[in-house]
Amino acid sequence: MAQEEAVELVAFCDLIPERAEEAAKKYGTPDAKVYTDYHELLADPEIYAVHVLTPNVSHCQISCDAMRAGKHVLCEKPMAATKEDAKKMLEVRDETGMMLTIGYQYRHFPVNATAKKVIEDGWLGDIYYGEASLLRRRGVPTWGVFIDKEKQGGGPLIDIGTHALDLTLWMMNNYEVDYVVGTSFEKLGRLLDAETQGQNNYRGEPDVWNHESYDVEDSAFGMIKMKNGAVINLRASWALNMAEDAGCNGQATVNLCGTKGGLDTITGVVRLNHVVARQTAITTVGKKIAPFIPGFSAGSAPRSKEAEIWTKALAGEGDLFVTADQAYVVTRILDAIYESSRTGKPVFFD
Ligand SMILES: NC(=O)c1ccc[n+]([C@@H]2O[C@H](COP(=O)([O-])OP(=O)(O)OC[C@H]3O[C@@H](n4cnc5c(N)ncnc54)[C@H](O)[C@@H]3O)[C@@H](O)[C@H]2O)c1
Repeated sequence: MAQEEAVELVAFCDLIPERAEEAAKKYGTPDAKVYTDYHELLADPEIYAVHVLTPNVSHCQISCDAMRAGKHVLCEKPMAATKEDAKKMLEVRDETGMMLTIGYQYRHFPVNATAKKVIEDGWLGDIYYGEASLLRRRGVPTWGVFIDKEKQGGGPLIDIGTHALDLTLWMMNNYEVDYVVGTSFEKLGRLLDAETQGQNNYRGEPDVWNHESYDVEDSAFGMIKMKNGAVINLRASWALNMAEDAGCNGQATVNLCGTKGGLDTITGVVRLNHVVARQTAITTVGKKIAPFIPGFSAGSAPRSKEAEIWTKALAGEGDLFVTADQAYVVTRILDAIYESSRTGKPVFFD
């Protein structure tokens, strides 16, 4: 989350005090306060809004406590580790009247914003098939707690599949799910040690993950049947034996097919496929610019846009861009893929 001129970042909290101190120095006001217990931060009546940037399993508790303390909340993606937690966050938002938004900043990447505009301009017609992808051949995060199920709730599906799915639902503007089937695999994460992993290339720098403590899935696949008959295939992996990644330089991509045309973001620009003068044609829309650059640098633009929209909403000058209701559907689908994988059955939505 970037600093915006209209807001002051006046307090920081982390269980590890040095991290909170470092963030306060980097982003905060000169007299920014530092806490290790977030309840103390929430007790400050001067604080108007809170950003929840902790591992996934604590998103719900901290966000709900914040809203009950009268703070508006921007919570990182995914909204929550389970559908129950996400539902609770919606309920507390409604109870308290606070604003709640989720950090799906991939929507602001130029290629994704362009794709959305192409769709809104009617080039695709009725979209009935979508692919939401982020398959990394080797891209296991090696910092933080990403491979710890207890803290994150899952692996690549909940961490990066969540971005691909959010983009796809948002572009299709379709949140009405009929049922979900899926499978998550726990194969390579534990199997491959330092000798057999090959080159794990998360941020353009080779690194080795700890296969002994790895306890989340390493790939997951889901089929989402929408109430209007449309189908979405969701694919996510941090480790999968395939020659090439599906995604673009480590970022989520979409591939959408409609009655008038289709588009994809696989190459880092929007490729609109349509029929022109009775011939199939591909039109490239936009320039290939950040974040699709080698080395997984997302650049600052998406975060700045997110901060700008959030700051305006806090000032009562605009709407939230990512609604918690949209993010709830994403979390429900991810939860359903895990459930379907456990039970071997489809999960029907009401
Ligand atoms: N929007 C995006 O593209 C994006 C990118 C990266 C991470 N994220 C999300 O941000 C969240 C954090 O990811 P990260 O990479 O920064 O993880 P991280 O592990 O590097 O940082 C999390 C920090 O939270 C602190 N923490 C944990 N529990 C706490 C608590 N109860 N109170 C105060 N501090 C607490 C930890 O000490 C740690 O310093 C995750 O949910 C992740 O999915 C989103």
